[in-house]
Amino acid sequence: MELKAVLRNILNKRSPDELIAVSKKSELKKTLNVFDLIVIGIGAVVGTGIFTIIGSAIQGGPEGVGAGPAIIVSMVLAVVACVFSALCYSEIAAMIPVAGSAYTYTYATMGEFMAWMVGWILMLEYAIGNITVASAWTGYFAQFLKGFKHVLPDFVVNFPMWLRNDYRFMFAYCDKFGLDPHSQMPFIFDKIPVAINLPAIFIVLVLTLLLIRGVKESTRVASIMVGINLFMITSFIVVGSFYVKPENWVPFAPNGFEGIFMGAFIIFFAYIGFDAISTTAEETENPQRDLPIAILGTLVLCTILYVLVALVLTGTVPLNQIDTQAPIAHAMRMIGKDWFAGLLSVGALCALTSVLLIYQLGTTRILYAMSRDRFLPKSLRLIHRKFRTPHVLTWISGIVVIVCALFMDLSISAELCNFGTFTSFIIICIAVLILRKTEPDRHRPFKVPFTPLFPVLGIISCGGLMIYSMKFLTTSSLYFPLWLLMGVMIYVGYGYKQKRLEEQNRLARLSKVAKLDKVEK
Ligand code: ALA
Repeated sequence: MELKAVLRNILNKRSPDELIAVSKKSELKKTLNVFDLIVIGIGAVVGTGIFTIIGSAIQGGPEGVGAGPAIIVSMVLAVVACVFSALCYSEIAAMIPVAGSAYTYTYATMGEFMAWMVGWILMLEYAIGNITVASAWTGYFAQFLKGFKHVLPDFVVNFPMWLRNDYRFMFAYCDKFGLDPHSQMPFIFDKIPVAINLPAIFIVLVLTLLLIRGVKESTRVASIMVGINLFMITSFIVVGSFYVKPENWVPFAPNGFEGIFMGAFIIFFAYIGFDAISTTAEETENPQRDLPIAILGTLVLCTILYVLVALVLTGTVPLNQIDTQAPIAHAMRMIGKDWFAGLLSVGALCALTSVLLIYQLGTTRILYAMSRDRFLPKSLRLIHRKFRTPHVLTWISGIVVIVCALFMDLSISAELCNFGTFTSFIIICIAVLILRKTEPDRHRPFKVPFTPLFPVLGIISCGGLMIYSMKFLTTSSLYFPLWLLMGVMIYVGYGYKQKRLEEQNRLARLSKVAKLDKVEK
């Protein structure tokens, strides 16, 4: 009996009608239009992937070989995996325009336990992904400051390494160059190393405050950043195209299919983010029409830009000289355009800032939806009286990124983010298939064409890339199942009970109100 009740609870689904009814009572402001959504999309998508990670996708890293100029094939593979999932996101987001994205859709199709797990996996995509972005932000910030070496004092331009890196990096750096760590960073009681990524902490704090101020204000800032960043990328393509030497594209795929597939897995990071659009469904004026347009529009625009950037980058710089830290700015230095390289750093900083901003927004909105579903305490979903934003959750999301940025490795966090995102994409494709069976008559303002073929292709392409890369990325493919296990343990030890407790409290409150009504009558 007891086991039956537990099973019933963990498989318990929320009907789309119920979800929509709850969202209609939402206290969040409905202010976003299709333009804001595309800004959110491009702002979330164009960032570390194209400004930093593309270098390693072309060159390869310690755990996998690179694609070389065939990175454009990798990009097409990655975007194919994204398009199927983007279509599925569009169908569900237009049908159930509720905050929480994949988490909420899973609740409607696969029940409570799977929904919890997807919420947990989405934290990998958003919060852990943001650690990668925050660390890359510091790298470009340091580069940007170097451009002011004649204006700013030396201690600002070359501020100490222990104030812009985590302790792991500092130890690895000392190891590589045979330096004594004690000469490079302070130690508390001669034992505990002190190394803090101060710029990353600073930017996350500023963005947290901005997000508390309001989502409309935040997207306004994001749209300025997106404008600058698109202008810079386009200028790179135009200026760089005059220096392309087709011989640099030979050999086209130096590491064959292995390089192309690994490249597709790594560069997938550059496409992540279009799903952030659906996390703001409740704050959208006309979600049924605007969400699909914004999701697909973002993906098409970014793909065109990325392929052009990749062609110019691999065409201007010989393969073995492509930089892995700031490849785009470095390419401009290689052709003697130092001033332009400096400007590109500004573009990169804007791009990374907008990714950070939108990912923090996404993390908060998913946690908000989880808290509203009673997985997390009520106190967390408090809405700020004046700004009408979930300020407690916004603070929590900011603090998590800051704390993790103190010790987490950049490439591991990027790979974990990819694993998490692939998994959530697969779940969305499955959710479309389930909803077509369970809710065949529900109005769908947008429908995935060629269903079930397209959702199935989405599952195969995302799953295939994920499984293939697991062969090589041994560290993160060990951490990913551990993350899942941790999610299961927290659900069993906390989430499940918290939900039952909150439900009991709600029922008690309802019966008290009913009794009072009776007495009054
Ligand atoms: N797509 C985002 C970026 O490249 C995550 O930074």
